[in-house]
Amino acid sequence: MATILVTGGCGYIGSHTCVELINSGYDVIVLDNLYNSKEVVLDRIKMITGIRPKFYKVDILDREGLNRIFDENKIDAVIHFAGYKAVGESVSIPLTYYKNNISGSINLYEIMKDHGVKTLVFSSSATVYGDPASVPIKEDFPLSTTNPYGTTKLQNEQILKDVYVSDNKWSILLLRYFNPIGASKSGLLGETPNGIPNNLLPYIAQVATGQRDFLRVWGNDYDTVDGTGVRDYIHVVDLAKGHCKAIEYALKHEGVECINLGTGHGYSVLQVKDAFEKACGKKIAYKIMDRRPGDIATCYADTSKAKEMLGWQAEYNIEDMCNDAWNFASKNPNGIE
Ligand code: NAD
Ligand code: UD1
Repeated sequence: MATILVTGGCGYIGSHTCVELINSGYDVIVLDNLYNSKEVVLDRIKMITGIRPKFYKVDILDREGLNRIFDENKIDAVIHFAGYKAVGESVSIPLTYYKNNISGSINLYEIMKDHGVKTLVFSSSATVYGDPASVPIKEDFPLSTTNPYGTTKLQNEQILKDVYVSDNKWSILLLRYFNPIGASKSGLLGETPNGIPNNLLPYIAQVATGQRDFLRVWGNDYDTVDGTGVRDYIHVVDLAKGHCKAIEYALKHEGVECINLGTGHGYSVLQVKDAFEKACGKKIAYKIMDRRPGDIATCYADTSKAKEMLGWQAEYNIEDMCNDAWNFASKNPNGIE
């Protein structure tokens, strides 16, 4: 079976993807600088799969470290998760974001090329669609961004399309994730944000555990089912399984393709709050606030390309996502330690 290098493999999506790759029989090597994660995650992966992936504590900005990994291992493909992801922070420290997400990624692509490794799955985001003119969103919709984080995703996509044009032996999948939430059913892996969470699910979970007083609902005057923002939430385990399908495809086909990974269903903030209340058996206090700058009303995916090309579609529903998120949050109130 092929050997897959997973950059950012100790992080939220990366760790769940390692589990699914190992369960599918792949050899997994993890690279992470542990900026936003902990090495103990690898022990949790072992508790679930029986295998602790080989680990390199390396920064993608460190070319020597990257070279060493490719010199010491016969790598068949790379899944590239490593990067910074906080939208608000990217507005305050754009150069740090461009350095990590662009310069770091270019290092990785160059060193892959030097070692003849030309199969890559890249973590892009639905953020590249900006404010879409309509929903569901298809892969050929116009692209635009509103913040440096989003721009790093769009620029990586463009860089990788150019790489393919220069050498048609590359096989590159640009996976555009919608809103990943939930956690491993084991309760051993999940999302552990630092500080005050920006994203909806981690915030609701902290209200449920008593770490926050109430949910701030950013606006209820959108043109949606109940006035609150609608998003395509996808279970992180479904997303991880999508990466296995993507690797399987990429190892067999040359080319460059953008693919949405979502469920195709939209839920409003209040619908998610209600589902979480059912999962945790508690009321989630909330207050309606002004709209959050930069937010859009509605965003959900057309998922037909993933189904046709990868033979993949999401299986879990919003109840599963909330149940699993709560299971993890209640078992790990201080995160993974
Ligand atoms: P995460 O922060 O949990 O994981 C990213 C991992 O990369 C962390 O373990 C971090 O320590 C590591 N990392 C960061 N910079 C690094 C560097 N220079 N060298 C080595 N390791 C480095 O984030 P996540 O939620 O798992 O997201 C993974 C990828 O998916 C990111 O590229 C993110 O932008 C993208 N994405 C995430 C979401 C989401 O909602 N979580 C949505 C769309 C796209
Ligand atoms: C955010 C990022 C996006 C990223 C995505 C997935 C922004 C502007 N965009 O999208 O780039 O790809 O996360 O990680 O940050 N909400 C509340 N109260 C809260 C938090 C959120 O009402 O405390 C609402 C938001 O207004 C939105 C929905 O919940 O309607 C989802 O928000 P969030 O989880 O932050 O994700 P996005 O904004 O969709």
